[in-house]
Amino acid sequence: MSIQKADPILIIGAGVFGLSTALELSKRGYQNITVLDRHVPPVADGSSVDISRIIRADYADPVYHQMALEAYKGWTSTYAEFYHESGFIMISETPSNLYIEQSKQNIIAKGGHIDEYSDLTQMRDLYPSLEADIPRAQGYHNPVGGWADAAGSIGRLASQCSVAGVSFMTGRRGTVHSLRRSGDRVVGVNIADGSHILASKVILATGAWSNRLIDIPYAATSSGQPVGFIQLTAEEGRLLEKNPVMINMTTGVFSFPPTPDTNILKLARHGYGFATEVQSEVSGHPISGPRRDSSNVASGYLPEDADQALRQGLKQFFPSLQDRPWMNRRLCWYTDTPNGDFIIDHHPTLQGLFVATGGAGHAFKFLPILGKYITDSFENTAPTDLHTKWRLKSPTQESGNVDMSGDGSRGGPPLRKLTVMEQSKL
Ligand SMILES: *[C@@H]1O[C@H](CO)[C@@H](O)[C@H](O)[C@H]1NC(C)=O
Ligand SMILES: *[C@@H]1O[C@H](CO)[C@@H](O)[C@H](O)[C@H]1NC(C)=O
Repeated sequence: MSIQKADPILIIGAGVFGLSTALELSKRGYQNITVLDRHVPPVADGSSVDISRIIRADYADPVYHQMALEAYKGWTSTYAEFYHESGFIMISETPSNLYIEQSKQNIIAKGGHIDEYSDLTQMRDLYPSLEADIPRAQGYHNPVGGWADAAGSIGRLASQCSVAGVSFMTGRRGTVHSLRRSGDRVVGVNIADGSHILASKVILATGAWSNRLIDIPYAATSSGQPVGFIQLTAEEGRLLEKNPVMINMTTGVFSFPPTPDTNILKLARHGYGFATEVQSEVSGHPISGPRRDSSNVASGYLPEDADQALRQGLKQFFPSLQDRPWMNRRLCWYTDTPNGDFIIDHHPTLQGLFVATGGAGHAFKFLPILGKYITDSFENTAPTDLHTKWRLKSPTQESGNVDMSGDGSRGGPPLRKLTVMEQSKL
């Protein structure tokens, strides 16, 4: 059953997947689009939020490399006021890190320029304020890349949607408790106030909350990744303002230059993360993921080992700041997939449902173009290779034990399930 431009479409989730899709659908003439979320975007405990996200074209996978170059055009035009081209340095303790090697080849193949180093101190010619003094570190610097103000660009995208005529529902009216079904067809959503909303198509863009609405633990699971913020003085901010974004591929810890004006230093870890155990409302099975009914950022709690790993990273990147207290900490919820590929597909068995999730900790940078790819798939015009890459597969025999370790870009210790005590503090 093909969809008409006037048919009502519900998009659950106001993160980068949901909003970029809403805007693109409206550009293509769809007239009745409603975005639902628990909170007004930028959603405080979503994954498309806070002061920064890495914008890089450095990918081992040529498909994402190509897409990142395309997104870069958007970051340097439409979203230029949110983008900071600080440069990007990848660091490995061991020589010939596979991800770094493949990424390097992709960049060179497309005519890009990189600066290789075999000792991080060599990077001081480019970045005199670099503190880290690590002779063994190897890797390269890419002058193309940096970071974006995540909350700012999501806010802009949301207002673009609003101007384009997209409707928003938040709070209890925006909190989806379940998909409303009629046999094998999804006909709308049941919401927290006990009522429901009908639609011709429902687009599920719920990121780390996805397994609460559809049962896909074999395709995507959620992991919490530690993030910490430090308030610098204006003087310290000025000293570090020309720093690059840096990632230590061995530990997964990465850092941003301080934010202009507010002087906030952020560190986080792109690792295997932490799992929780909650019961899925849809399957009754235990799943990992953030809470549905209250904010997941209010407590400011980090597991002890996560805190220590961030602090160790702080010490390695910024020795002079190693003892500074965090002004704020939290777990950022990733939606992990087996190879780090997104899930963008019509649901294989439930009619009327389209799924756009599985950001795997690297989707934000595609904000300027992600909606185009999602809408191509929604309209069944996506190239076959992309459709296959982002297909929502059916469960298999081995479904119980799928490895969600991603695309080879993560570092640090393996996934750890939080104890009951730790979970109670989240
Ligand atoms: C959008 O769809 C809803 C649900 O079917 C309907 O009630 C509403 O009138 C539609 N709005 C417009 C502008 O067509
Ligand atoms: C990267 O992490 C490794 C392992 O902890 C460490 O030995 C190295 O010093 C770190 N490098 C930088 C630049 O932080």
